[in-house]
Amino acid sequence: MKKYKVGVIGATGMVGQRFVSLIADHPWFELTVTAASSRSAGKTYEEAVAGRWQMPTPLPEASKKLTVLTAETDIEAIASEVDFVFSAVDMKKDEIKALEEAYARAECPVVSNNSAHRWTPDVPMVIPEVNPEHLEIIPSQRKRLGTTRGFIAVKSNCSIQSYVPAFHPLKDKFGLNRALVCTYQAISGAGKTFESWPEMVDNVIPYIGGEEEKSEQEPLKIWGSLEGGAIVPTNSLSITSQCIRVPATDGHMAAVFVGFERKPDISEIKQLWKDFRGLPQTLSLPSAPKQFLHYFEEENRPQTGLDRGLEGGMAVSLGRLRPDSQYDYRFIGLSHNTLRGAAGGAVLLAELLCAQGYIS
Ligand SMILES: NC(=O)c1ccc[n+]([C@@H]2O[C@H](COP(=O)([O-])OP(=O)(O)OC[C@H]3O[C@@H](n4cnc5c(N)ncnc54)[C@H](OP(=O)(O)O)[C@@H]3O)[C@@H](O)[C@H]2O)c1
Repeated sequence: MKKYKVGVIGATGMVGQRFVSLIADHPWFELTVTAASSRSAGKTYEEAVAGRWQMPTPLPEASKKLTVLTAETDIEAIASEVDFVFSAVDMKKDEIKALEEAYARAECPVVSNNSAHRWTPDVPMVIPEVNPEHLEIIPSQRKRLGTTRGFIAVKSNCSIQSYVPAFHPLKDKFGLNRALVCTYQAISGAGKTFESWPEMVDNVIPYIGGEEEKSEQEPLKIWGSLEGGAIVPTNSLSITSQCIRVPATDGHMAAVFVGFERKPDISEIKQLWKDFRGLPQTLSLPSAPKQFLHYFEEENRPQTGLDRGLEGGMAVSLGRLRPDSQYDYRFIGLSHNTLRGAAGGAVLLAELLCAQGYIS
């Protein structure tokens, strides 16, 4: 099979490195371009990440000799070289918006890990198992951009991936209409390790800038409807949240409380979670977990250290489902923030875009 040629812009950063490692073993994708800031440009990828490679696996052989290009000025050259790019740059939000749009206008599809375009009405924000139908907005976006190939698709914030997938099979069936969520988020979500953030050892910080808004609002777009060339967020449920940074390397946990219009039995919920299969499972996409939602019966699971890596860090772990005195039920969710929640989720989205013909 001919492989898709892939570029990573922001390839030298933490998320970019994760993209580079995931693409290295990918059956459909081949890394042909790396790009970053002018600080890295002109170096080989190996030189550019020397002393800051943070992945648990060694630097992939195929990436070492690639010359790092300048993400902001080599757009035409990159667009002509690749079939699409992953975006993982860390710049000001307006700059990221403009940069990603410049790639799309140069007829290069962009699959972005960044939040900059999440609220652009004709940009699909997709969890592939939950709202793959939002990709149908792409022709409207192309019309606005005046492109035939180019478009932008984004993944959602890492914090919501530990509860939105669990809500999805229950939401319409039982009228899930209110939720309270407290997240316990790992330090890699801030691009940090214990070496670079020693203040997090033996510490908990009750604030993550912008995270509570994302945790409450992004799910509403995920369950939104396509109307007149825009995705209109749902108003069928409301979510309140508190997001807390905890001393874990990877893995975001959520303590969740939910209320329904028609309260289901615990056994019905567990069965729906067990049976849930999304389009990535039906299409057998390479990065799709076989069992997306895993329920643990043990009362002390899921645990961040033990369970975040389930099915290559792409599955979501659930446990402790039980009645609540103020909401109908409460439970615990866990997902890997840099795999399912970041680069892995974007790779799965790219696979879906290729399988459905949006990237040719
Ligand atoms: N870390 C996570 O788990 C996580 C999760 C979700 C979302 N995010 C988001 O993903 C993005 C990347 O995060 P990160 O943690 O990987 O950041 P990072 O480690 O600081 O890496 C930033 C990357 O952006 C590049 N860059 C910076 N300024 C640039 C410019 N003017 N032009 C082109 N490239 C530029 C850097 O290149 P140089 O090396 O050349 O400076 C580097 O490749 C951020 O927007 C972040 O908010 C991160």
